Amino acid sequence: MITTDPFAITEEALGIPGAAELTALANSMFPDLTEGLTASPSAEDPFGLTVDPVSTRSYAPSVQSKTEAAEADRRIDVPTSLSGVDVPQSDISSEKGTSRDDSIRIGGKTLAQIRNDFPILSERINGNQLVWLDNGATTQRPRQVIDRVSYYYEHENSNVHRGAHTLAARSTDAYESARDTVRNFIGATLSEEIIFVRGTTEAINLVANAYVLPQLSPGDEIIVSILEHHANIVPWQLIAQQSGAVIKVIPCDETGQLIMSEYEKLFTKQTKFVAVTHVSNVLGTVTPVEELIAVAHRHGVRILIDGAQSVAHIPVNVSALDADFFVFSGHKIFAPTGIGVVYGKRELLEAARPYHGGGNMIADVTFERTIYNDIPNKFEAGTGSIADAVGLGAALDYLSEIGMPCVYRWEHELLQYAMKEMTRIPGLTLIGTALNKASVLSFKLDGYSDEEVGKRLDSYGIAVRTGHHCAQPVLRHFGYEGSVRPTLALYNSPDDVDALVRVLRTFA
Ligand SMILES: Cc1ncc(COP(=O)(O)O)c(C=O)c1O
Repeated sequence: MITTDPFAITEEALGIPGAAELTALANSMFPDLTEGLTASPSAEDPFGLTVDPVSTRSYAPSVQSKTEAAEADRRIDVPTSLSGVDVPQSDISSEKGTSRDDSIRIGGKTLAQIRNDFPILSERINGNQLVWLDNGATTQRPRQVIDRVSYYYEHENSNVHRGAHTLAARSTDAYESARDTVRNFIGATLSEEIIFVRGTTEAINLVANAYVLPQLSPGDEIIVSILEHHANIVPWQLIAQQSGAVIKVIPCDETGQLIMSEYEKLFTKQTKFVAVTHVSNVLGTVTPVEELIAVAHRHGVRILIDGAQSVAHIPVNVSALDADFFVFSGHKIFAPTGIGVVYGKRELLEAARPYHGGGNMIADVTFERTIYNDIPNKFEAGTGSIADAVGLGAALDYLSEIGMPCVYRWEHELLQYAMKEMTRIPGLTLIGTALNKASVLSFKLDGYSDEEVGKRLDSYGIAVRTGHHCAQPVLRHFGYEGSVRPTLALYNSPDDVDALVRVLRTFA
């Protein structure tokens, strides 16, 4: 540990017992924050923080050589393999002294190229370049997605599956090709196992009502975790009320990681289903999904993984995980709003009853009975968000070109940097310090309301979320009603973190 630095990151501050090596590494990894502060106070900028959008700072991530990288990886606990997906050790690199964003290579692209792909990142907000740190709420869209959706409306627009004309064939091809892209992206076996819905919320309601509710009797149990977003609590409560089932909750420890020994104890003969998040939207905790799934299966119970906060940040392979259901929203993975995905194992989707009735989900209708269509159509009643599904396909292609394992490593590195810098801010408490953590940097600042912090950040063009983040139980568990929540994504740069930290320091 560097003891001369009064704001040195400490194990206590990080809430990580026995993390001396991590601490030392974090303290040695990054340059001093005061570098690059160029502006002076003015009436519009009382703290003198507005800097030229092209930063003067140069940034050198920690990975310098293969040997050092291997040593760093061992110490900061970056998994080298996630559910069977290899995480590369060398595809993220930067040359010390060269221009920052150009020199950071994330798989197939440089950070500068990636940032250029997102037109909205050039937007100026309150006289400053936008710093988008509200990725947990929604991500921005790259030009490739925007163009693909425009192309769809200009050249392919039609309803799908019906009609003998050319445009119906084009739109059906585009829509079904997007389904296949999703299948490939999450490692599913069959395209029919991919159902397009509006988003994670609708996805969970679908699984709850179509698959779980018909199996429930009074006294049956559904297990969720304390980390859940309301979208993975309320649908289960609704079907519990209808059936007389009860909800049981996996607790977490003081870092925000699930206590697996307690999870195991929750299972009884009455347990009918488990639904757990992959990444907490408040704490950033990456839950041990492989183990959660394996334990559920050992007890003969099916499990849904809420991937809303994981799929854009962590390589996911539902087959390697052996997930029964995996759900996510397009808008949190650089795709349009109004589109999301239920992945379900074929036999489970076939066993489930339809969720919505109407056109497209039927094979034959008389007034006496309806024969339902096969999956996936059985769950896609009516006209869906066709262009948005096509946009989702484009977003996933975009990520695949860069490489999800590289995205994961880059964000991990940026998160380490941000945690280190934020922990040095007097009066700032990070909420959620699990060793396995992704993307989320929730915090409280002594003496200031979350809204005050959010507003001052916005006045410098920095977008973060404040409030309860639709996850009141977990915040209350930590003694809070709300927090300030910056969340990272692929295109965030060290300069974004620096801009955040500079403004936060003005509260001291
Ligand atoms: C973990 C988690 N689950 C579910 C949701 C709901 O997603 P949507 O609003 O896209 O349906 C969110 C949204 O923030 C989330 O973070």
